[in-house]
Amino acid sequence: MTCSSFGKCGSCVLWQMPYDEQLEMKKEKLKEMFSEFNIPEIEVISGPDEHFRARAEFRVWHEDDKSYYAMRKRKEDGRGVIPIEECKIVDRAIYEVMNPLLREIEKNENLRFKLYEIDFLSNSKGELIVTLIYHKKVDESIAKDIKKLKEKFPQIDFIVRKKGRKFVFDKNYLIEELDIDGKVYKYKIIENTFSQPNREINKKMISWALKNSKELKGDLVELYCGNGNFTIPLSENFKKVIATEINKESIEAATFNAEMNKRDNITFLAMSAAEFSDLKKENSPLLSSYDLKNVLIDPPRAGLDSKSREFVNEFDNIIYISCNPETLKRDLETLANGRKIKAFAFFDQFPYTNHMECGVVLEREN
Ligand SMILES: C[S@@+](CC[C@H](N)C(=O)[O-])C[C@H]1O[C@@H](n2cnc3c(N)ncnc32)[C@H](O)[C@@H]1O
Repeated sequence: MTCSSFGKCGSCVLWQMPYDEQLEMKKEKLKEMFSEFNIPEIEVISGPDEHFRARAEFRVWHEDDKSYYAMRKRKEDGRGVIPIEECKIVDRAIYEVMNPLLREIEKNENLRFKLYEIDFLSNSKGELIVTLIYHKKVDESIAKDIKKLKEKFPQIDFIVRKKGRKFVFDKNYLIEELDIDGKVYKYKIIENTFSQPNREINKKMISWALKNSKELKGDLVELYCGNGNFTIPLSENFKKVIATEINKESIEAATFNAEMNKRDNITFLAMSAAEFSDLKKENSPLLSSYDLKNVLIDPPRAGLDSKSREFVNEFDNIIYISCNPETLKRDLETLANGRKIKAFAFFDQFPYTNHMECGVVLEREN
């Protein structure tokens, strides 16, 4: 991949390294990081090396009568942001609309004035949610300007935000369709809730989790389930699933998604992982009908808090999806104790950056 922003933009720090070398370098890094554990060969799961990000956020830079997208500067160039002309890592539908959209916004002072940030969310059909974030008072009168934008960009639903206020034109979600191993799953993805950034890698992560949970007996507990991204396909491998997540809107989407995909063996609960851990301690009747042997976790970068780690440690089989090898390593110090690491995958969600996503399968040793 080449990009005119390479060497200026602080996002793609590995811009000088060919993609294959990035994969090899990251695999070696992980091997070294996890050398104290008895891990099997790391499975490297890669995807396209351009137009892979289904969502992206850009600051907006205004200069005279021109506006630019802006990204944070490279560390070595100091603090602040720099204007960019393109971003090649974003989904093609986002890439193609970015500059034409900004040219239209430039023509309308009401839309342009104090526009601070533009966020994009796309689906595989090329439909988009674009969120315009302002540092000024915004009221309903912006509707007529957005209507003009929508005439030019019918594939976009717009959201206008300013501190504490939000205007939606016409909806705040997309329906995504993912083909996983020949079967299509549908997901409602709500703006400003978590969704996996890299669509192709996400499909491969779900397929990997499906493969690694096929032989498991009993029910499944899932923590940090988001909109049911893993829950819905994996529910086909289990009799019953109970899945939890802290974000209420994500749980609403997950419940909708279970219905849309005709899955009736899942219970979703909106609560934190720590609160859910307490249910087990309190012998809550909510859990009494579940055979609690298997757990899938996909926490944020901070990994597991101590309460949740203790809870997860009670399960025989653990599938851990992690976007932060540092906290994964910390959590494995506990979880790999008395368990065999059956599989270790590196999913390249974030090409051209040093970020690494991993999947680990653990099984209790007798
Ligand atoms: C990395 S995302 C994974 C979501 C989902 N598994 C997916 O694949 O889209 C982590 C999720 O954890 C949720 N979360 C963050 N802190 C949490 C907590 N303390 N308890 C439960 N869920 C939490 C976030 O809202 C987010 O949806």
